[in-house]
Amino acid sequence: MCGIVTYLGKQQALPLLLEGLKRLEYRGYDSAGIAVMDGQPVRLMKSVGKISELEARIDPVKFNGTAGIAHTRWATHGKPNEANAHPHFSCDRKLFLVHNGIIENYLPLRRELEAAGHKFVSETDTEVLVHLVEANKKSGLDLTAAVQHALRRVVGTFGIAVLDQDEPGVIVVAKRGSPLIIGIGNDEILAASDVSAFVRLTKQVVYLNDNDVATLRRGDYSIVSIEGPAEVEREVETVDISAEALEKRGFKHFMLKEIHQQPDTVVNAVRGRLLPEEGVSRLGGIEPVLERLKSARRLSIVSCGTSFYAGQYGRYVFEALTNLETDVALASEFRYRSVRFDEKSVVLALSQSGETADTLAAIREAKRKGALVLGIVNVVGSSIAREAGAGVFMHAGPEIGVASTKCFTSQSIIMVLMALLLGRYQNLTFNEGLRILRAIEEMPKHIQDMLDRQEQMLEIARKYHKAKNFLFIGRKYNYPIALEGALKLKEISYVHAEGYAAGEMKHGPIALIDESFPTMAVVPQDETYDKMISNIQEIKARNGKVIAVASEGDREIRKVVDDVFYIPRTLDLITPLLAVIPLQLFAYYTADLHGREIDKPRNLAKSVTVE
Ligand code: BG6
Repeated sequence: MCGIVTYLGKQQALPLLLEGLKRLEYRGYDSAGIAVMDGQPVRLMKSVGKISELEARIDPVKFNGTAGIAHTRWATHGKPNEANAHPHFSCDRKLFLVHNGIIENYLPLRRELEAAGHKFVSETDTEVLVHLVEANKKSGLDLTAAVQHALRRVVGTFGIAVLDQDEPGVIVVAKRGSPLIIGIGNDEILAASDVSAFVRLTKQVVYLNDNDVATLRRGDYSIVSIEGPAEVEREVETVDISAEALEKRGFKHFMLKEIHQQPDTVVNAVRGRLLPEEGVSRLGGIEPVLERLKSARRLSIVSCGTSFYAGQYGRYVFEALTNLETDVALASEFRYRSVRFDEKSVVLALSQSGETADTLAAIREAKRKGALVLGIVNVVGSSIAREAGAGVFMHAGPEIGVASTKCFTSQSIIMVLMALLLGRYQNLTFNEGLRILRAIEEMPKHIQDMLDRQEQMLEIARKYHKAKNFLFIGRKYNYPIALEGALKLKEISYVHAEGYAAGEMKHGPIALIDESFPTMAVVPQDETYDKMISNIQEIKARNGKVIAVASEGDREIRKVVDDVFYIPRTLDLITPLLAVIPLQLFAYYTADLHGREIDKPRNLAKSVTVE
C-alpha cells in the first residue's frame, strides 16, 4: 500500500523526506510526490515511477523548506500518472494532502464538491479529501478543525497528512485503518506509515489509534479525536530497530539478504522459548490466555499471501501435535464464511507486517463473535499486534523484500512451538517434545549448510529459467511448501507457476505437462515418499522435466528425476521449513536471470492496507 512521510523542524525537509520515501518504497512504487514549504508558496513535484525518478526531477536549491509532506504510491483508483500521484492540492493550491488507504464514498462526495464549484484534476478517491478540507477552511475553521470535519464525512481507511500555506509551521495528520506513527525528534517532528522512514533520526514514537488527528508543530504535537476537541493522550514508546538493519549489507537484493538471515531469524524466533528439560516450549506472549487456550476445541488460522501458506503448514502441525480441530482461511474470504464461534474457539492471525487490512478485518470479525484472537506478527506496534488479545512476535527484524522469506520460516516455527506447548498438555510425551526441540535447535546449521550450496540452485535456475510455466508439487506438510514455492516464483520472476497437492495432479493439471513445462517436486524421504515417486513417474511418462528437493543420501531419486537439490535430514514435521529454502533461492535466481526488480516486483506491495 502507499507510504507517507512528513517532516517539520530545523533541517531542510527535502533530503529527509526523500530518504524516508526510499525506506517506504516497498509499500508501493508506481509514482511519488513531495511538497515542501518555508513561508513562500509551497513547492510541489510529482513523478511516475520510482523515488529515484522523482529525485532526478528536483533542483534542491529551488526546493528548500523545513516543512514538507511526501508520498509513494500503490495505485488503487486511477492509473499511475502525474495527475493521480500525491500530494493532491486544493483549488486555491494552498492545501496539499497525501493519503494511504481507500475512501469508499468518494463518488458522492466528489459530485457534491463539483456541484459546489470545486475543480478536480485527478481520477483518485483521495482528491475529495483536500477539497473537503478547503471547503471547511473557507467556512473559517483552522486546519485541525477543517480536517476533523472533513474526516467525519468519510467512509473508508486513511493515513493522511495535510500542509497548509496559510498555516506555516503546522502539519496535520490523521489515521483510521492505515498505520501512522509520529516520530519525536530533537526540535523536529516527523510522521510516517512505518518507523523505518525516520528511525535514523529518532526512536521515540507515538502510534496513533484509529480516528486520531494530530497537529504537529516544531518540537511539539497535540492529539484530538475526529469527533471532538478534547485532547487525547497516547504513549511515547521506544522502537528497537537500527538504521543498519535497513541496509542491504553487501547483498545484491534485500530478498537475498533476508534468505541468508534465516539461520539467525530462526534462532531469534525461538530464543528463550525452548525448555528441553521439560520437553516443551514457553511462549510468554500467550501465557495470559493459556488456560483458555488449553480448553479450546477449535482453531482457525487466518492470513494472506505467504502467511496463508504458512497457515496451511500450521494446520498440519496443530492437527499432528494437538487435539484442536484446525482450519485455515484466506482472510479476505473469512468475512463471507458463517463460522460459529464460542468461548472454545481460537482465531490465530499470521502477519509479517501486522497491517494487512484483510487479516485485520478478519480478527475484528472474530472478536465481535467472541473468539479468542491470537497473533503471530513481526512488526511491533502494528495494528494486528495491538488488536489481538495475545500473541507472539517473530523478532525477525525488518523484512523489506516484498516477497516474504525469513518471516515464512519464523511464523511457521513459532506455530510449531505453539502446537508443542498445547500438545504437551494433551497427549504429546516428553520424548516427542524433546525430539521436536532438538530438531529445531539443529535448523540454523541445516539452513546454513544449504545456503553454502546456493550455487547448485543457481545452476538449476540457469537450466530452467526460460520455461514459461512451472508446476510445484508436494504432499502433507510439503503441499503448502509447494504452494509457497510457486508463489515466490510468480511474485518476483513473473513466470506462471502452480502449486498443487501431488495426489491431485492426475485429476487435472497433468494435462499441462510436456517437455516445456517443468515440475519442482518436494520429495523428502518421509511417509509420503513412495506416493511422491509415483506422481513423479506419472510426469516423467509424459516427458515432463522434474527437479527434486530431496533428502540427503537419497541416491534412488537421481535415477527418476532430472535435477536434485539435497536438503539435510530432520523430523518430517521440520523438513518443510528446510525444503522452502531452495525454493526461495530458485525463485530468486530465476528472477535475477530475468533481470527483474526483485525487491519491488511490479504491481505488488509489502503490506496491503486496503481490503
Ligand atoms: C503481500 C506481500 O502484500 O501481503 C506478501 O507482498 C505477504 O509478501 C502478504 O505475504 C501478507 O502480508 P502479511 O504482512 O500480512 O504477512
